[in-house]
Amino acid sequence: MSAIELHSLTKRFGELTAVDDLSLEVKEGELLCLLGPSGCGKSTTMRMIGGLERPTEGKVSINGEEVTRTPAYERDSSIVFQNWALFPHKTVLENVEFGLKMDGVSDAERTERAREMLEMVQLSDYEDSSPNELSGGQQQRVALARSLIVEPHVLMLDEPLSNLDKRLKEEMQLELKEIHDDLDQTMVYVTHDQNEAFTLADRIGVMNDGQIVQVGEPPEVYNNPKTQFVEEFLGDTNIVSGQVEETTENSVLANSELGCSFEIPVKRDSVPEIGEPITVSLRPENMTVKPSQSREITADGGKPRSRVAGEITNVIYRGSMVRSYVDTGSREVFVEQQYDPDAGVWGQDNAIIEWNSDRLVAFDDDGMQITPYEAQL
Ligand SMILES: Nc1ncnc2c1ncn2[C@@H]1O[C@H](COP(=O)(O)OP(=O)(O)O)[C@@H](O)[C@H]1O
Ligand SMILES: [Mg+2]
Repeated sequence: MSAIELHSLTKRFGELTAVDDLSLEVKEGELLCLLGPSGCGKSTTMRMIGGLERPTEGKVSINGEEVTRTPAYERDSSIVFQNWALFPHKTVLENVEFGLKMDGVSDAERTERAREMLEMVQLSDYEDSSPNELSGGQQQRVALARSLIVEPHVLMLDEPLSNLDKRLKEEMQLELKEIHDDLDQTMVYVTHDQNEAFTLADRIGVMNDGQIVQVGEPPEVYNNPKTQFVEEFLGDTNIVSGQVEETTENSVLANSELGCSFEIPVKRDSVPEIGEPITVSLRPENMTVKPSQSREITADGGKPRSRVAGEITNVIYRGSMVRSYVDTGSREVFVEQQYDPDAGVWGQDNAIIEWNSDRLVAFDDDGMQITPYEAQL
């Protein structure tokens, strides 16, 4: 049985369709991240799961039971928000106990369970403190303990870490992951931050314009994006436009704005027509820059493929990685590779960029990916 099932869920606010015919299954015990740009409908989706927003159309089930019209307090779910509202005049322990008090649990049991929760979030020493004596990260841990203590079947977190600074955020991400693994707690985690999704998620649901574009495990959505939107949203890349010049039953040759041709493996049912525009995505980590004496490329027996010459315009050191910007004459591309002090390229102006044709992904005129997944493994 799935922990959550959403069936053709739609939410309209007047003219605006915030969530558009969305279907999704969250498995028992998994941490699913809803990832997408601001305004794409993540919070609205979550609020419909939690019962804080009523769907215009569609169905919500939790733990196999349809709850579309069940009020929030009767659903087996709990939500942690970005602005974690703790009770300022209650102690940390009283804040954590609160949900159990509402459920009529006895004093002694309440205190015992709240102490267990505080131990799990590493705040045992603070049970008598007032929330405003705690740091942002500690307050967020209290909010988490307060939500977990009622043992919700489903815990939902809406950008819970976005107010924290980078270091604390990364620390909390790891803690959350540990808590999730310890409790096998089903979690839906909303974020617009790809790195956060990659750190936490068992599966990622990428959202755009009120719809789920793709659901999959992190390496799958990164390496085998269904659409150009997913490819661009999940990481930095060079988007290069081109036009199909030749086709076979499972590949195309396309010219490009870089001045070079691309030989692209294509799924048999997605081969575009000659003359059709296509888009190639070159991830910076799938390319290398090499020094060159001149900007002339010696073509091996035909048109130069899988490489292009250019001039290095900027080099940025990012710890162990180096990002180089290269002007190819028609446009600039960027490449990321391991820093190698012996490579000799960093002081050079002229360089050649190469890439592995098997690692590139291409999209048709509608933004749908046409390269076969096997090509990227
Ligand atoms: N109560 C509301 N009334 C009107 N419009 C809303 C309401 N809640 C959300 N929206 C709109 O719905 C869209 C999706 O919002 P939201 O789900 O909050 O997106 P996200 O969480 O992905 O940033 C946005 O355009 C937002 O302005
Ligand atoms: Mg939101």
